[in-house]
Amino acid sequence: MTSFRFLQFLLFLLFHQVYSEAPEPVFKAEGNIIEMGYCFGVDYIVVYRAAPKGDQLLGNSSADSKPITPPADLQGRIQISKQHQLLGLQIRNLTQLDSGIYRRECWQDQALSNHHTHQLTVCNEEIESKEIIVRQEDGGAEVLCNSTSIGVEGTFVHWYYETHPNYRPILFLDSSMSLKPLMEDLQGAMEVRDSGALLLLNHSMLNNNQHFYCLVIKGGKCLSFQNMYMPDTSESRDVFASRGERVVLPCTSSGNYQQWETPLGMINDSSVKSNHMFISSDHKTLDYSLVISAVDDEHQGDYSCISPSHEIQYSLIICPIREPKKKFGSEAGEVSLECDVGPEESVQWYRKETSDTYELFYDSNHETVSIPEDLRGRLTLSHNHSSLTLSDLVSKDEGEYYCVVLRETAVSETEDGYEYEYDEEESEDDENSDGVYWDEEHRCVFKQETVLRLMTNERRRPEVGPPEPEPSPTAGPKSDSNATGYALGVGLALLFVVAVIVAVIVIKKKRKTPPQQSQADAQSALNTSNDVKMNVEPSCTDSLAQHDEFNA
Ligand SMILES: *[C@@H]1O[C@H](CO)[C@@H](O)[C@H](O)[C@H]1NC(C)=O
Ligand SMILES: *[C@@H]1O[C@H](CO)[C@@H](O)[C@H](O)[C@H]1NC(C)=O
Ligand SMILES: *[C@@H]1O[C@H](CO)[C@@H](O)[C@H](O)[C@H]1NC(C)=O
Repeated sequence: MTSFRFLQFLLFLLFHQVYSEAPEPVFKAEGNIIEMGYCFGVDYIVVYRAAPKGDQLLGNSSADSKPITPPADLQGRIQISKQHQLLGLQIRNLTQLDSGIYRRECWQDQALSNHHTHQLTVCNEEIESKEIIVRQEDGGAEVLCNSTSIGVEGTFVHWYYETHPNYRPILFLDSSMSLKPLMEDLQGAMEVRDSGALLLLNHSMLNNNQHFYCLVIKGGKCLSFQNMYMPDTSESRDVFASRGERVVLPCTSSGNYQQWETPLGMINDSSVKSNHMFISSDHKTLDYSLVISAVDDEHQGDYSCISPSHEIQYSLIICPIREPKKKFGSEAGEVSLECDVGPEESVQWYRKETSDTYELFYDSNHETVSIPEDLRGRLTLSHNHSSLTLSDLVSKDEGEYYCVVLRETAVSETEDGYEYEYDEEESEDDENSDGVYWDEEHRCVFKQETVLRLMTNERRRPEVGPPEPEPSPTAGPKSDSNATGYALGVGLALLFVVAVIVAVIVIKKKRKTPPQQSQADAQSALNTSNDVKMNVEPSCTDSLAQHDEFNA
């Protein structure tokens, strides 16, 4: 997250040339360092401190500058920092008396290129930061300001959040003034308890803000501050695609300065179509998804949708594809979704959400993948991982599923992170950044689709036996509607991505189901045979008949 925030920050410098008049609140604990940063790619940095008798010059990084004598209380604690193209000014060994307003200017060619004002608050201590635990039921959370001094006579709590687009702390509650939020539109989004120490935040408050800070104040002094943050959801999502497949990587539009970083270079213009890739841009639906019309080997690799406010990462992995299967079940019955998983392989199961989005709902390797609510308690994975049983079937379960079988291989690579850390504290002890680390890379063995059909209630008589064969056109109209549904699908996909934080894998499957196959399916539906494992590649269609089974 740190490098991500740094990137956000750089994008701001590069594109916005931040001209921020209101001071940005910054909280530090006594004895720590503040970095009045940063100036990027300019000639020099100049820093002032606001004082009653006018601004005091603290530093000028220009080599030609005549020596500066900082105010007595700061002497020996000021240092210009320079990392590559980044210029900053540090004040070390902070004390409460350093609290105040600071302004840094970046100068280029004798002109002010940009400036930034900090409102520094130095507190006695920093309480260890804490991840916010979001309730599954309603997406809300209780956020408690943890401080030994809370509740002590004469203490008050200040609450701040960081929000789009600036990600600077904004004061939203000051318990010395009122126990109501300072912004009226927040009143429905939160409840205040324990004299302001405890906030009950609803999901909208949490969705919009990634970081919260509380400060415990007594007699104008800050006793402590604490950062509470939302779980990091910025990790990369794996997308498994086969050659020739259409893939959509969802991303929402967030205004200007947005772009896609791809293995084949940067793309930022929706009109450009190159290498079978283009941006499906639509300001109305806030769409900025990347569409790869036909995946090829050159498309394999990492993708990032980057904007000043967010970054979404994907990793596209090429998968051999196996012939699709059909399964039949009946309402309230159960069905086993088969996928041939070998030893030392893991399996992931996805289901289709909209025409372009698939949802990961089971991962044999990461039990922490949260199973969607409607599937909870209904899934059983067989011991060898080759069969996932879905019980208490409901009509909504009908649809397309696919499994991805992965072989784990350890790959060593040198770290390819950003060279600079935005976080001041970390820059002190980040000697480990040039290290080599071991990355577990998944290698896709194959992916395979299963179409699940449910028999209607009248036909559900388990004792009677096999279902009536599906008429052969069933597979046909589906693939037709695929083509017409693109535009709508992309829109839906975007809405879905906005609303859901679960890992979403987007695969567009170009299905070519020949009529004979449906015949074979129909026949095989009559055959109540069991789990004959399929170890063949697509060319071998014969075996298909062995696979479809009817689970009554
Ligand atoms: C910083 O140093 C440069 C080079 O000597 C000078 O031109 C500039 O005026 C100085 N800025 C301040 C605020 O002292
Ligand atoms: C920091 O301040 C403390 C007292 O406030 C002092 O003892 C210590 O020497 C200072 N350290 C530096 C590096 O200035
Ligand atoms: C508050 O912080 C202390 C350590 O500073 C920790 O031991 C305690 O569990 C925390 N309390 C809560 C409710 O998080």
